[in-house]
Amino acid sequence: MRRILVTGGAGYIGSHTIVELQQAGYEVVVIDNLDNSSKVSLERVEKITGRRVAFYQVDIRDREGLSKALTEHPCDACIHFAGLKAVGESVEKPWEYYENNIGGTLTLLDVLRKHNCKNIIFSSSATVYGDPVEIPITEQCPKGQCTNPYGWTKSMLEQIMMDMQKADPEWNIVLLRYFNPIGAHPSGTMGEDPNGIPNNLMPYITQVAIGKRKELGVFGNDYDTPDGTGVRDYIHVVDLARGHVCALKAIDRKCGLAIYNLGTGHGYSVLDVVKAFEKANGVKVPYSIKPRRAGDIATCYSDPSKAERELGWKAIYGIEEMCRDSWHWQSQNPNGYKDN
Ligand code: NAD
Ligand code: WQD
Repeated sequence: MRRILVTGGAGYIGSHTIVELQQAGYEVVVIDNLDNSSKVSLERVEKITGRRVAFYQVDIRDREGLSKALTEHPCDACIHFAGLKAVGESVEKPWEYYENNIGGTLTLLDVLRKHNCKNIIFSSSATVYGDPVEIPITEQCPKGQCTNPYGWTKSMLEQIMMDMQKADPEWNIVLLRYFNPIGAHPSGTMGEDPNGIPNNLMPYITQVAIGKRKELGVFGNDYDTPDGTGVRDYIHVVDLARGHVCALKAIDRKCGLAIYNLGTGHGYSVLDVVKAFEKANGVKVPYSIKPRRAGDIATCYSDPSKAERELGWKAIYGIEEMCRDSWHWQSQNPNGYKDN
């Protein structure tokens, strides 16, 4: 397997994955409509790897655009990151989320099969477990009730792909359920670049640390956790990116349908992350306790052992490196890619 189509490749996780793919010897073709990203991320990829990225500014809902890209660059597999991902926005705009994420993926799957590329790795999420019935969460854990349309798009797309694989066993489909990706490329030249007020914890912390925001609001300290704040399984984005390269091995082995958690297996509370960030970087992160955020759960962390057993993949970075690299990126690029 040589050439990989990467949808959403200009985004946070996609761009880091392209670095790992190119460094592992794969050729990469990127499709992105740049709705939530900048082409500068791909220039940074090229600087790191010294290799070109073929780029099409195309929407995954655009059948002709997709088809043209695949005709000009036939691919062996697709890694599908493209999608809208803001949980709160999905509650305000459910139609837009279902149309983009589900409509777009249906079009993509159809174009892929017409081009005889029936191999796909899909960016799913721990959110499909809802409020999990077991901790740590294994892949056997039943899926749960999502609390927002974004989460449902992931849950429904998993179901759609499972049904397609059952009906046509030529498909190899890997569903990767990410836990909480943070961190940035150790070079400090690539990272997460949210628009507006960050929804997620780490970008909010880095913006407080650099003085763009006054303080972090900690959403609740009365959960049933050791310090009362929410516990999550944070994973370094470079580890996550490497997980996709390993998942291509499952496709090489003609896995049919395969599901993997990608996490570290360790849970850290909000205050653990604040403390780790301050310690790793020698900067203060002022915070105050706020009410709980709607839809949040107390605790979520993975049992990632299936990915280690079957893919030979294991996260190598710890919370300290995640905090260090997030800050390195933010402090070197105070306005993300927007200054370029
Ligand atoms: P991101 O927004 O940085 O990247 C997504 C990319 O998809 C963006 O570059 C955006 O421009 C592009 N895109 C969106 N709709 C598109 C469309 N219709 N056509 C073409 N391109 C389109 O997000 P990310 O954090 O890199 O996430 C990548 C994937 O991983 C997403 O599917 C997301 O839901 C999933 N995921 C992310 C997290 C997380 O916490 N970041 C956790 C679990 C799963
Ligand atoms: C982490 C913890 C918050 C911000 C979300 C999506 C999930 C997945 C990953 C895509 C929680 C607390 C946060 C802040 C805070 N995305 N927090 N103050 O909610 O675990 O997961 O991103 O698939 O689907 O739901 O991540 O980073 O938003 O929050 O106290 O300003 O930090 O309450 O305990 P979450 P997060």
